[in-house]
Amino acid sequence: MTDAPIIAIFEAPLGSDLYTQALRLREIILRKPLGLSVTGEELTDDAMRQHFCAVSYGAVVGTVSLRPLDETTLHLKQMAVAETRRRERVGARLLAHAEDWGAGGGFRLMVLHARIGAEGFYLRLGYRKEGEPFDENTIPHVRMIKRLGP
Ligand SMILES: CC(C)(COP(=O)(O)OP(=O)(O)OC[C@H]1O[C@@H](n2cnc3c(N)ncnc32)[C@H](O)[C@@H]1OP(=O)(O)O)[C@@H](O)C(=O)NCCC(=O)NCCS
Repeated sequence: MTDAPIIAIFEAPLGSDLYTQALRLREIILRKPLGLSVTGEELTDDAMRQHFCAVSYGAVVGTVSLRPLDETTLHLKQMAVAETRRRERVGARLLAHAEDWGAGGGFRLMVLHARIGAEGFYLRLGYRKEGEPFDENTIPHVRMIKRLGP
């Protein structure tokens, strides 16, 4: 028998301990390596988002956020998995949870800006690229989309 790590996905409401841990993870994974910090603008944006996190043995090891753009479209961002927990399907579990949540709420389309280098992850999970790469937070990204539901 293998000892597969136990990972569960939870909602991380704004201001909760899970949200605070997820924010710390975002800072470490998504901002510090670029010489940046989470900005006040991002924190304001957070207030309009649904946050989810992956928890393993009490610690947040992954995070993702969603914001409705209109009645049918959700914008996904802040996808980050702890460096020591990559390629364990934490990201795939978070993405599937976000998509199920969106489809359950009647959303038909997920859109995101993938960092070049991470786009293979999203391609693997059914997203397709749209348009040319562009710079965001000092590094190149590409817009990707996926239809939700049947
Ligand atoms: C991108 C990231 C979220 C992937 O998370 P992860 O938990 O390691 O990914 P998973 O283990 O769930 O991988 C799911 C599938 O995608 C593949 N994959 C994962 N990362 C990949 C990458 N960077 N490029 C290509 N394929 C990738 C895996 O091999 C796996 O494929 P399989 O279905 O054939 O087994 C994670 O590497 C990360 O946090 N990176 C740094 C921050 C970042 O770039 N975030 C995205 C911002 S847009």
